Amino acid sequence: MENNTLDLSNKNVPMAQLKSFHDEVTRFMMTYKFALDEMETKIDILKQEFQTLHDYSPIEHTKSRLKSPESIVNKLLRKQHEISLGSIKHHIRDIAGLRITCSFISDIYKVSEMLQKQNDLKVLEIKDYITSPKSNGYRSLHLLIEVPVFLSDRTEQVCVELQIRTIAMDFWASLEHKIFYKYNKDVPEELLTELKAAADSAASLDLQMERLQHEVQAIKDAHDTEESEMLKTIHINGQQFRIPGTLLDILGQR
Ligand code: GTP
Ligand code: MG
Repeated sequence: MENNTLDLSNKNVPMAQLKSFHDEVTRFMMTYKFALDEMETKIDILKQEFQTLHDYSPIEHTKSRLKSPESIVNKLLRKQHEISLGSIKHHIRDIAGLRITCSFISDIYKVSEMLQKQNDLKVLEIKDYITSPKSNGYRSLHLLIEVPVFLSDRTEQVCVELQIRTIAMDFWASLEHKIFYKYNKDVPEELLTELKAAADSAASLDLQMERLQHEVQAIKDAHDTEESEMLKTIHINGQQFRIPGTLLDILGQR
């Protein structure tokens, strides 16, 4: 792989060398797609299992993206790294990106914990921009994860960048991203101040929603306990039944 360095200054690269580089790049990019497929399956399993067991899922939705070869090369040039597959693998760790949106902040950490416990995954780095938001107000939990991809002749460890955030954080980040590019990265000061205020409002909305969710959960738990306490066990012909205590009262068996 390391040998396959393309010398961009050479205008007369032999056709065979170009073809071989092209094939190698295609194969290389496929591993990132497979890593994303694996991660998406993992997330989908967690989502379905949670939904079935708890009638609720901490994951709202997911979105994946593969960095285009053009932006990979641009990033390498910007960071003044060599243009080779080895260099890409080493230096560009956000080729495969997966964004997970959750309803509540606590869900973000729940999902992150569940993934960290999966022993085929290796967490390379965690950046918690929720406990320590960026100065512009950006909030999200970032995880760099190495995923094993089993190919026909080898196993590749492939890096995936995970961004886990609430719906409110996602709403803010996508707007900020649009504004950032609209102004060609030179956003007027007053807009930056407004964006920061909007990020803080989104954060306080998240806290409020979290509190509400706890209250709703407490009411639901109390109701469930009450209901289960009201059910009594009776035995008929060796078989066990759970029936409401009030029904037993009516039947005069209490
Ligand atoms: P890059 O080299 O640019 O990828 O940055 P990094 O390696 O320091 O990674 P970091 O974890 O800080 O950010 C990676 C990704 O998070 C970016 O590519 C964005 O998708 C997202 N991100 C980080 N900061 C911001 C921000 O201020 N606004 C928005 N909208 N997205 C951000
Ligand atoms: Mg990036």
